[in-house]
Amino acid sequence: MQTLEIDVTKQTLELKVNGQPSNLELDPRTSLLDALREHLHLTGTKKGCDHGQCGACTVLINGQRINSCLTLAVMHQGDEIVTIEGLGSPQALHPLQAAFIERDAFQCGYCTSGQICSAVGMLAEVKAGWPSHATADVASPRIELTDAEIRERMSGNICRCAAYPNIVAAIRDVSQGGGQ
Ligand code: FES
Ligand code: FES
Repeated sequence: MQTLEIDVTKQTLELKVNGQPSNLELDPRTSLLDALREHLHLTGTKKGCDHGQCGACTVLINGQRINSCLTLAVMHQGDEIVTIEGLGSPQALHPLQAAFIERDAFQCGYCTSGQICSAVGMLAEVKAGWPSHATADVASPRIELTDAEIRERMSGNICRCAAYPNIVAAIRDVSQGGGQ
């Protein structure tokens, strides 16, 4: 009897990252984080814990923030994936990137790309009227982004250097129309 051998450790897929489509061949068990870092060499996205506890790996999928260590690359064919490399450029920083520099909102910088991607997603959630645990009036269509709201909504992003006051200040600046 003839046997058909299939290599289940290899799958081809196309990922669209920062507007650029790329064809990959990888193990279907590869996390999106590892696909970005090890296969596409987009190392701005960081691996902190690799199990959903630190937020260092946060990227945007179709505009929403996600821990890329907790999702498989093969689940994201057809999605618009944005990493820190796609948010701005050294010549044209995203307002949050500029505000983080202005407010000195980092020390080692390891958590920073995750903080910034998370803040982009978070501000979109506020704009869409999504309440948080810190929202005083969940029935109100307009959410006031207080510092307590920012801290609660960014609580999934850990900063080992404890740059939290400056991170909150940078996000507050942008939410109030500041930033460069
Ligand atoms: Fe993904 Fe820590 S590396 S949450
Ligand atoms: Fe070092 Fe946040 S700046 S972990």
